[in-house]
Amino acid sequence: MIIRRPPDIRASEITPKSVYLRRREFLGGAAALGVAAALPFGPAWAALTAAKSPFSTDEPQTPLKDVTSYNNFYEFGTDKDDPAKNAHTLTTTPWKIKADGLIDKPAEYDLDDLIKDIALEERIYRMRCVEGWSMVIPWVGIPLASVLKRLEPQSSAKYVAFETLVRPSEMPGQKGLFQALPWPYVEGLRLDEAMHPLTILAIGLYGEKLPNQNGAPVRLVVPWKYGFKSIKSIVRISLTDSQPKISWEVANAREYGFYSNVNPDVSHPRWSQATERRIGGSTGGLGGLFAKRHPTLIFNGYGDQVAKLYDGMDLKKNF
Ligand code: MTE
Repeated sequence: MIIRRPPDIRASEITPKSVYLRRREFLGGAAALGVAAALPFGPAWAALTAAKSPFSTDEPQTPLKDVTSYNNFYEFGTDKDDPAKNAHTLTTTPWKIKADGLIDKPAEYDLDDLIKDIALEERIYRMRCVEGWSMVIPWVGIPLASVLKRLEPQSSAKYVAFETLVRPSEMPGQKGLFQALPWPYVEGLRLDEAMHPLTILAIGLYGEKLPNQNGAPVRLVVPWKYGFKSIKSIVRISLTDSQPKISWEVANAREYGFYSNVNPDVSHPRWSQATERRIGGSTGGLGGLFAKRHPTLIFNGYGDQVAKLYDGMDLKKNF
């Protein structure tokens, strides 16, 4: 992410046909159809029932094959097609989440227990990556607020910190000489951002359980912030009274800040954020490489709902 400018997409970043075909095999044809289908994928790929949330956009959805083959998940490699190639090795059941810090119910929870009886919702969100591309993804998830309430935050809690799994035996990007980031991948939100109704924990997309490359079994989704906030494969949630560290800021504080709100008026030091390129769709599987660029919207178009969280703040300083 820090190494290349977004328009410089190399030919190698277009999913090779062999990978696409392998994925198609794995998805049992759903990728080829580009639709959610309750096909017999085995236990890790079961249909989820979710009512469509009114928070959803009705913009055209990014085809499933693009959502699952053009990814950032550095634990599995830094090329866009690495997660789809490598993430199948990740074991996602059972899955424990350690909840700690300033809460009255600290424990190591089984994921199923932590989200038990919270109604699943389909949230079709625009997602904007800091690299300049965007997608529209039909997530299946639950409000993060519902989970946080279960943990009973104490009055001194002001932030929520998240951590991704560290398991080099199953995550090739955590092995070897070249480590793209310090592990675990960490992220954080202010408590009011975390409690905002748009913020969800996703456990699925396109009506099925999350594919591993998209952050199985549970990842954060914060649609008004750049995609790197949406931390994948979460194993720890901590409530804190001071601003938590976030991986990309630790890697490069000049380029990435804690808030990471989508903002066309704040350029990345090495490129403008004024426009974006929608992945997939009408370009016939070329990953949107030739798609026309669209203006980036402040808060990714979710300003009506979230701008008030930042009243009085200088968003150029707090980027
Ligand atoms: N979470 C972890 N653990 N590791 C990562 O490398 N990449 C982030 C975010 N979450 C990342 C992560 C970035 S840069 C983006 S753009 C989104 O995941 C991409 O999500 P997607 O691949 O599901 O579209």
